[in-house]
Amino acid sequence: MSNSSILLISADEDIAKSVGGVLEGLEGVKLSRESSSVSKLNGTAVRMAADHNVVIFATDPSNAADLSAIEVLTEQRGPDTVYLALTDGDLPLSKVRALSRSGVDDVLPYPMPDSELAEQVNTWIEKRRAALVEKYSGDKAAKGRVIAVQQARGGIGATTVAVNLADQLLDRKGAFKKEASNRVILVDMDLQFGTVGDFLDIEGKGGLMQLASESFLPDVEWIEQSIDRTPNGLAVLSAPSSFVPLEAMQPQQVEALVQTLKTMFDYVVIDMPRALVTWLEPILTECDQFMIVTDTSVPSIRATRRLMDFVLADNVELPIEIVINHEKKPMFKAEHHKEASRALDMPFNHWIAHDPKAARQAVDYGKPLSEVAARSEIAKGIAALAKATLQALPKDQAKARV
Ligand SMILES: Nc1ncnc2c1ncn2[C@@H]1O[C@H](COP(=O)(O)OP(=O)(O)OP(=O)(O)O)[C@@H](O)[C@H]1O
Ligand SMILES: [Mg+2]
Repeated sequence: MSNSSILLISADEDIAKSVGGVLEGLEGVKLSRESSSVSKLNGTAVRMAADHNVVIFATDPSNAADLSAIEVLTEQRGPDTVYLALTDGDLPLSKVRALSRSGVDDVLPYPMPDSELAEQVNTWIEKRRAALVEKYSGDKAAKGRVIAVQQARGGIGATTVAVNLADQLLDRKGAFKKEASNRVILVDMDLQFGTVGDFLDIEGKGGLMQLASESFLPDVEWIEQSIDRTPNGLAVLSAPSSFVPLEAMQPQQVEALVQTLKTMFDYVVIDMPRALVTWLEPILTECDQFMIVTDTSVPSIRATRRLMDFVLADNVELPIEIVINHEKKPMFKAEHHKEASRALDMPFNHWIAHDPKAARQAVDYGKPLSEVAARSEIAKGIAALAKATLQALPKDQAKARV
């Protein structure tokens, strides 16, 4: 199931009522309204428009203020938003052309019969959906690498690693490091206790809540509509803000979600739940790297061992990486490090220093470490982890795991 979000902008009450009525009657449409003329839209409304799938507005193109306002609206367009102008049906052709030149996708004469309006809007919804699917299919599809971040025990720092690893995987280049080299999404699958939204000061659009409470399979359109983006360009799918039973999510839904995300992003970072639920399996199947965040204490190493045994049982080839948090890489490994490494039969390649001040700063600002404490030891540890990950999983070179 996919909802299309439509924004209707009209200061005219009659238009708002009759067109709004038609749009509300369309299947799978979520309608928002703005009772203002286009020329009086404030900045917030303009930004809001870019977040909708379709924006329909009533306009009089002989009004110069309207025309320039439409230009502003369509200049700031979301890449996949369709703009439809509703205007007097008796308009001379020259005016219609002026409207088309201002950046709208179509000019619909008003009034028109309800059934025809419904059909026209539906056609645009379908066209947009087809264009979106096309954008990520065949040669154009990304070959996303999936990295699952799991915790050995509660509070060990898995979300800190997931958030900041995802941020670093953007691999920003250029002046002021503004341009991301990679498309990255961070998905908070810790459905009940997820804190990714808090870490990045994102409210979330309730996508995963909807997914868990209804039984549809997510597609490109649903994903585009459900993600938030941080100012850095990191895409985020945050956990529900209210309680959802873990088993409400179906394995097929998670499978479709991860498979579709792989066509849209170069890197998919998943903050995993602590509980071992049935829908972990599709994630493990798609996973290119399973990171376990732990410390070197005996209980954490034992928990890591149990976790490894569990995930490897059905996924013998699952590539696992151990990330030691709260400990700077030692010059010489102590005996307990060697023992822990032997107990897991794994090398310890990744270390992140204990740095409560920087960690706290990042959380309080709701920003990644790279922005608030880039020179801290913890940020350096995560940058090194990201570098190793980019080397181990170069983009566009995904290969099937046997
Ligand atoms: N290397 C570190 N040094 C100091 N503090 C850290 C470090 N890593 C994480 N923290 C802090 O520890 C707390 C828990 O971290 P985080 O939420 O990332 O852990 P988690 O494993 O995801 O926990 P949860 O069980 O809640 O999912 C946070 O306040 C975080 O800022
Ligand atoms: Mg967490």
